[in-house]
Amino acid sequence: MTTYESEVTTRRTFAIISHPDAGKTTLTEKLLLFGGAIREAGTVKGRKNSKHAMSDWMEIEKQRGISVTSSVLEFQYDGYHVNILDTPGHEDFSEDTYRTLTAADSATMLIDAAKGVEAQTKKLFKVCKMRGIPIFTFMNKLDRQGRDPFELMEELEELLGIRSYPVNWPIGMGQSFAGVYDRKEKRLELYNPNNPKDIDVISVIGPDDPKIDEVIGDAGLVAQFREEIELLDVAGDEFDEKQIKEGHLTPIFFGSAVSSFGVQTFLNHFLKLSPYPTPRESSNGVIDPLEYKHFSGFVFKIQANMNPAHRDRVAFLRITSGTFKRGMNVNHVRTGKSLKLNQPTQFLAQSREIIEEAYAGDIIGLFDPGTFRIGDTLVEGANFEFDEMPHFSPEHFSVITVKEALKHKSFEKGLQQLTEEGAIQLFKTYNRHTEQQIVGVVGVLQFEVLEYRLKHEYHVDIQLERLPFSFARWVDGEGEAMETFKRMQRNLVTDRDGRIVVLFENDFQMRTAIDKYPDLQFFENSFFKSRV
Ligand code: G4P
Repeated sequence: MTTYESEVTTRRTFAIISHPDAGKTTLTEKLLLFGGAIREAGTVKGRKNSKHAMSDWMEIEKQRGISVTSSVLEFQYDGYHVNILDTPGHEDFSEDTYRTLTAADSATMLIDAAKGVEAQTKKLFKVCKMRGIPIFTFMNKLDRQGRDPFELMEELEELLGIRSYPVNWPIGMGQSFAGVYDRKEKRLELYNPNNPKDIDVISVIGPDDPKIDEVIGDAGLVAQFREEIELLDVAGDEFDEKQIKEGHLTPIFFGSAVSSFGVQTFLNHFLKLSPYPTPRESSNGVIDPLEYKHFSGFVFKIQANMNPAHRDRVAFLRITSGTFKRGMNVNHVRTGKSLKLNQPTQFLAQSREIIEEAYAGDIIGLFDPGTFRIGDTLVEGANFEFDEMPHFSPEHFSVITVKEALKHKSFEKGLQQLTEEGAIQLFKTYNRHTEQQIVGVVGVLQFEVLEYRLKHEYHVDIQLERLPFSFARWVDGEGEAMETFKRMQRNLVTDRDGRIVVLFENDFQMRTAIDKYPDLQFFENSFFKSRV
């Protein structure tokens, strides 16, 4: 294997998807600890940061110079080079969170075992499903009484439509939590509540091994465990790597992130099962990093600096093929210009370091004086573009107007810039006497960010008038049905590319429209995938 091939095949780039408070920060910290990227837990970010009120959040942005939402964390472990893409979760949940998933090759879904699948996890899962990437599941907080593991598995199937294969299985839970049994490796990991980090690992010949009775002690618990394993073996799904790779089957790992229990087992299995940087579609066909060795990549996120004293933006680029070398010249395909990549940074927690070299699968941050747009392709010595970045349905909408008419030009310029950065989506009312501009955002905090940035960067005061809609659907269809729809349907807008989008207040309204126009198709994103 050449050096390039071994660099690529040992890379793992993934995102952790979860609902706030499931333990994502905790799990991330533990993973970084294993990789030696941090020395003690708690240094990834102030855990409560993203729960701060808006004013505090702005302060944090200012102090740090770069957003709390922007972390891409990387560490080395057991010969692997791991990149974790952070998906912001609390009030700062935004379309960026979705877009970040387009840069990942796999995802780990973190679930609080007491709560099961929650709203935000469901939304993020849908995006992963649309991309068809492998999804791993970590059932967290086993040290507390949670829900029945079978019930949790059923919920995955019912709510998310994904089948599962528990790689390990808990023995007891909460007060009675005794450990987990690794079905693949046939070994027992014992939980010591007084010192959870001290994990006794015992190899057994199978679930019936009398050693298990000896070490667990509690006959009732062991009997229940054996019954459950038998049920899984007989009625459960089989372990099938192909199904995992295609995202139809999720391997489940039970554990407790806070006590570091089950985390290393998860990591070991995950690294073996998850894919190395995957091929991507482009205007020139599929770009497979093992075959196409020239540098190429796409911008999936642009992070503006909230501090007016530091105007720089950072464009996050996912390298899809080849080797990045500092100072290299690349084509910025959309503009046709040649760019010299002089100041790329990589991110670990809050520090920025200049990097010299990076490979397919890596994420680099490029200083952006306003050059880049979401979805831009950079490529060395060629001219193709990666697939356009999809837009996802916003959840909050406002009519936006400028307070002083004289500032109209700056207002339009600011709006355009923020739209290109992907901070907001801009729609125009369709077929209305007086055209209005409507801003759509995924997280409500983005409205405040918008107001703040237009004021500080463009010196424009705006007025936002909230609308009652809670989601948008892109509409596809033609002929008479589409014409009637355009004439009769209320709350139609067009997106930046002129596509017809309909805004709904609730599911009922949407169902009514779907029933009324059976020849039209309604999509949750501008990619026209994930039909509803
Ligand atoms: P998030 O990033 O997904 O929002 O979650 P975070 O890691 O901040 O964890 C949310 C809370 O859940 C934290 O408690 C954390 O300690 C706790 N937690 C994480 N993993 C486990 C686990 O395996 N078992 C148990 N019992 N708790 C877990 P907190 O009280 O909000 O914060 P802290 O005071 O502990 O820092």
